[in-house]
Amino acid sequence: MISSIKQSTNSFTHYSRPLPRNHSRLNPQIQSLPTISNPKQTLTHKIFTQKPLIVSSIEGFGPKLRTQNRNPSIECNAYGAADRSQPIDIALTEKSEAAKRAKIGVYFAIWWSLNVVFNIYNKKVLNAFPYPWLTSTLSLAVGSLIMLVSWGARIAEAPKTDLEFWKRLFPVAVAHTIGHVAATVSMSKVAVSFTHIIKSGEPAFSVLVSRFLLGESFPASVYLSLLPIIGGCALSAVTELNFNMIGFMGAMISNLAFVFRNIFSKRGMKGMAVSGMNYYACLSMLSLLILTPFAIAVEGPQMWAAGWQTALAQIGPNFVWWVVAQSVFYHLYNQVSYMSLDQISPLTFSIGNTMKRISVIVSSIIIFHTPVQPINALGAAIAILGTFLYSQAKQ
Ligand code: 3PG
Repeated sequence: MISSIKQSTNSFTHYSRPLPRNHSRLNPQIQSLPTISNPKQTLTHKIFTQKPLIVSSIEGFGPKLRTQNRNPSIECNAYGAADRSQPIDIALTEKSEAAKRAKIGVYFAIWWSLNVVFNIYNKKVLNAFPYPWLTSTLSLAVGSLIMLVSWGARIAEAPKTDLEFWKRLFPVAVAHTIGHVAATVSMSKVAVSFTHIIKSGEPAFSVLVSRFLLGESFPASVYLSLLPIIGGCALSAVTELNFNMIGFMGAMISNLAFVFRNIFSKRGMKGMAVSGMNYYACLSMLSLLILTPFAIAVEGPQMWAAGWQTALAQIGPNFVWWVVAQSVFYHLYNQVSYMSLDQISPLTFSIGNTMKRISVIVSSIIIFHTPVQPINALGAAIAILGTFLYSQAKQ
C-alpha cells in the first residue's frame, strides 16, 4: 500500500490543494496546438538537460511557470507541431494562450482577494468570539448551503456521485477538517500574519512526510530549499512578539493535515468525474458532517450562546455580518482556488498559494497594526523565498 501511495504522490506533494479528478497536467486542447513559443530554445534545453520537453498551457505566466509533460508520445507530437506550424496557427495559438493567461490571472486575483477578505473577517470574528470550532463549522455549513441552493436552483450542475466517490472522499475530508480547524484555532491565538508565516512551511512537511513515511527520495536541491523554509519559520517563531504555543502548534498541525489531504486526494480521486467546484462542495459537506459532533463536544451550545451575547454586546449587530462574511468568503476563496486548479499545474498552484500568503501577511499586518520587528520580518521573507526555491527545485 505504501508503495502505491508513494507512486501516486510522486511530484504532487508540493502543492496544498487536492487535485480534482479532471485536472489535466496537459490540457488536451493545448496538446494539439503548437504551443512552443521558442522551439529552438526548448530543444536546446532538452539536449543539455535530458529533461522532458516542457509544454505549458500557461507558458510565460509568472516566474518560470511550466507544466511538465511526462508522456513521451506527446513530446514528439509537440515537436512535430512546432515544425509544421503555419503563421496563422501560431497567431491563433498565441491568441488562445493570451486568453488563457488572462483567465488564470483573473482567477489568481480573485482567489487572493477573497482569501485576504476571509482572513480579515475571520480574525475580527475570532477576536470578539474566540470559539474557533464553531466558526470553522459555520464556514463549512454556509459553503454547503450555498452549493445545495446552487444545485437546487440549477445555477450549477449537481455532480453525479456514488458511494465509491464518498468513500474515497472520506480520508480527504478528515484531513481537510483537521487542517481547517487547526488553522482557525491557530488564528484565534496568534496574529494572522504569524499563522501564515508558519503555514508557508507546508512544503517542508510535504518533503518530510514523503521521505520518511512513503520512502520517496528527492534531489539534493529540494532538501537544500528546505533550509531557508525551516530556518525562516523558526526565526519568525522565536522573534514573534505574541508567540503562543497553541497558535504555533495549530499552524503546524494544519500544515501536516493538508499534506495528507493532498496525498489522499491524489490517490483516491483518480478517475472520478467531478469538477473542481463540485469536488470542493462535496468536500465541504462531508467535512461539515465530520466536524459538527467534535465542535459540539469541544465547545458546545452553552459556551457559544454566552460568547455570542458578549460579542453582540461589544460589537453590535455588525458582528452577525462579520460571521456571514468570514463564512461566505471562506467558501468562495476555496471554490475559486479549486476552479483554478482545473486550469493550472500543481506547480503553478503552489507558487500562487505562496504569493497568496504574502498578500495575507502584508494586508493583515497593515489592517490589524500587528507589531513586527525587523528580524521577525526577515524570518518571514527567508521562509517565503525558500518556498519559491523549493518550487523551482521540484520541477
Ligand atoms: C483554513 O481555515 O482552512 C485555513 O485558513 C486554510 O488556509 P490556506 O487555504 O491558506 O491553506
